[in-house]
Amino acid sequence: MSLGKRSIYKSVCLALALLLAVAVFQRSLTPSQFLQGPLPATLGLQKVQIPTGEHLVNPNDFWKISKGSVAPTHPASRGPQAWDVTTINCSANINLTQQPWFQGLEPHFQQFLLYRHCRYFPMLLNHPEKCAGDVYLLVVVKSVITQHDRREAIRQTWGRERVAAGGGRGAVRTLFLLGTASKQEERAHYQQLLAYEDRLYGDILQWDFLDSFFNLTLKEVHFLKWLDIYCPGVRFVFKGDDDVFVNPANLLEFLADRRPQEDLFVGDVLKHARPIRKKENKYYIPGALYSKASYPPYAGGGGFLVAGGLARRLHRACDTVELYPIDDVFLGMCLEVLGVQPTAHAGFKTFGISRNRNSRMNKEPCFFRSMLVVHKLLPAELLAMWGLVHSNLTCSRKLQML
Ligand SMILES: *[C@@H]1O[C@H](CO)[C@@H](O)[C@H](O)[C@H]1NC(C)=O
Ligand SMILES: *[C@@H]1O[C@H](CO)[C@@H](O)[C@H](O)[C@H]1NC(C)=O
Ligand SMILES: *[C@@H]1O[C@H](CO)[C@@H](O)[C@H](O)[C@H]1NC(C)=O
Ligand SMILES: *[C@@H]1O[C@H](CO)[C@@H](O)[C@H](O)[C@H]1NC(C)=O
Repeated sequence: MSLGKRSIYKSVCLALALLLAVAVFQRSLTPSQFLQGPLPATLGLQKVQIPTGEHLVNPNDFWKISKGSVAPTHPASRGPQAWDVTTINCSANINLTQQPWFQGLEPHFQQFLLYRHCRYFPMLLNHPEKCAGDVYLLVVVKSVITQHDRREAIRQTWGRERVAAGGGRGAVRTLFLLGTASKQEERAHYQQLLAYEDRLYGDILQWDFLDSFFNLTLKEVHFLKWLDIYCPGVRFVFKGDDDVFVNPANLLEFLADRRPQEDLFVGDVLKHARPIRKKENKYYIPGALYSKASYPPYAGGGGFLVAGGLARRLHRACDTVELYPIDDVFLGMCLEVLGVQPTAHAGFKTFGISRNRNSRMNKEPCFFRSMLVVHKLLPAELLAMWGLVHSNLTCSRKLQML
């Protein structure tokens, strides 16, 4: 092929690829179109495409090519421009099975340790466009595929997006973080439903790892890597569970006099927490896995705020720390690498307002109105409490938590 012909061939291919990307883009942004007919088979699972030839544009790069404003460029130390893990290539570390201490562990710890070195998995659902423009606060919610009702309640309440955060600040956007269904028999069915849900709302990030309790740390590292790639300019991140109550107005008020450059990491901070050695506890950790007497300071995973810049540094720091089965403790270990202390704030009640479950305070809207984050509410309770907090509530005194 002559040089001229080759360049024509290249530009035709590029144009075709761009057309394809625009078509995909439009489809994913037009729920009404999607609602008119059945889901075409080819769109059932919006897999991240792996380019089949050099001349094909990776859809992930599309955002970079077409919109200069998508990701503010940070010339210093940029990593990959798109999710760069496309295959699962990780076998069990059978070396461990020879070790006597390993043989004595409970099976789920053995499972964790065998695959501990498998750090990154491919993406199944991605939304690079979430970080287009000026994003002031990115709200990310840990969720699992079966908890559709929780996501729905959050979308109607504290997860509602805002074009502007007020006071000249940028947008507030929301994303849900998911792995795959943990039960084999649930997988195909729920995956289809999730694809529908994502077509409607376009707010799901999904990676190809099992959504199990011990894999929550994987979710943490995957999100931090994602943020570093697709959302480098975001000012602040709120990360929380899908069963908490959040008061976004209070979050935004709290952030109003903070700078995104600060080493801000705020939540319900535990200091000198000891690893739990009682086997029947959900958070039990055998001595073989963590031998020190106490954990570094960490924020309860129910909900915390982190500055965008710090989140990006956390991504790099976490890459140097071995995965730990408890995700919030793991993040504490990453903070320790950076020498950053998480800050405690009384408005984060990730263990409930009162630890006494039957306390009336746990149902008192005036308390919820003054808080930033409260654990733990079922979807119906969340909707009801949200309604109460945003009604003409007369509280005897204004609680000053901020
Ligand atoms: C998977 O890993 C093995 C050994 O680590 C390597 O030889 C192989 O090329 C890898 N395959 C892919 C598709 O990356
Ligand atoms: C297993 O042991 C061999 C030899 O000691 C080492 O080269 C290899 O990296 C180990 N595998 C893993 C997954 O740690
Ligand atoms: C985490 O996910 C990976 C990939 O799906 C899986 O192989 C592994 O068993 C999971 N780990 C745990 C502890 O559930
Ligand atoms: C709340 O109070 C304001 C003024 O007191 C009133 O205008 C408004 O209609 C009330 N809203 C509801 C939902 O009762």
